[in-house]
Amino acid sequence: MTPQAFFEQLWQNYIEITPQAEQIRQLFAATDGEVINDHVAFRTFANTPLQLDNLVPLILEMGYEVQGDYEFKAKKLRAKSFIHLDHTVPKIFISELLTDQLSEQAQQIIAKYTAEITEQPMDQSVFCSGRHWSTPAWEDYQTVMAESEYGAWLLAIGIRVNHFTVSINHLNSTNCIREVLQRVKDAGFAVNTVGGEVKGTPESLLEQGSSMADRMAFTFADGQEHEIATCFYEFALRHADNEGVVYQGFIEANADKIFESTNIAA
Ligand code: NI
Repeated sequence: MTPQAFFEQLWQNYIEITPQAEQIRQLFAATDGEVINDHVAFRTFANTPLQLDNLVPLILEMGYEVQGDYEFKAKKLRAKSFIHLDHTVPKIFISELLTDQLSEQAQQIIAKYTAEITEQPMDQSVFCSGRHWSTPAWEDYQTVMAESEYGAWLLAIGIRVNHFTVSINHLNSTNCIREVLQRVKDAGFAVNTVGGEVKGTPESLLEQGSSMADRMAFTFADGQEHEIATCFYEFALRHADNEGVVYQGFIEANADKIFESTNIAA
């Protein structure tokens, strides 16, 4: 699959449950024409047929190479980023929940659902495939939520893109992240304020911000209906180093706070 076809499919799958994303895209398209994305991100469960290492070959097949490895100890995650040989193609960031670091109770709940994943040959459509397990029960969702907001999100949503990211570097109308976030707020969307609206500094070469995830009504297995967080839109501004090379990597301290964009309690 070409990256272009891949991202088109992902975008349609993303806006189905993230209507804000299309509205935000249009907001910037109105002043900047085509909106270029810096990266997309996915979440998955470790120690399952859908674990990060099993997804890697599908990314490499599209002309990507592994760019970096990341650890988020407090959130019990590991991640890898991938960069395409064509730098106008969005980077890909995939994290996985290290479920064996959760409590016995949370592990058992997650294992009950992930045991339903069937091992089968995968293609790139897996990144739009959603849940590979039964609809969770509200009680299970809440128990996992108490330990891992990431885990609860994944249990309800499954394997889908978690966010797209506007490349501020490619906007003509502004190169100021605060101005971008202000436009998003003025359009009526909440912005993630964990650690401040802007994560990172020009000195660290990467500044990021994000909207707060959309919410949707979700009917749990036991018939209870509750609002859950879906997905959000991120904004990234990359800076050049002393040699004039624009930084392309990811920074754990920034990403750690971006993860909280799906925190419905925030
Ligand atoms: Ni991101």
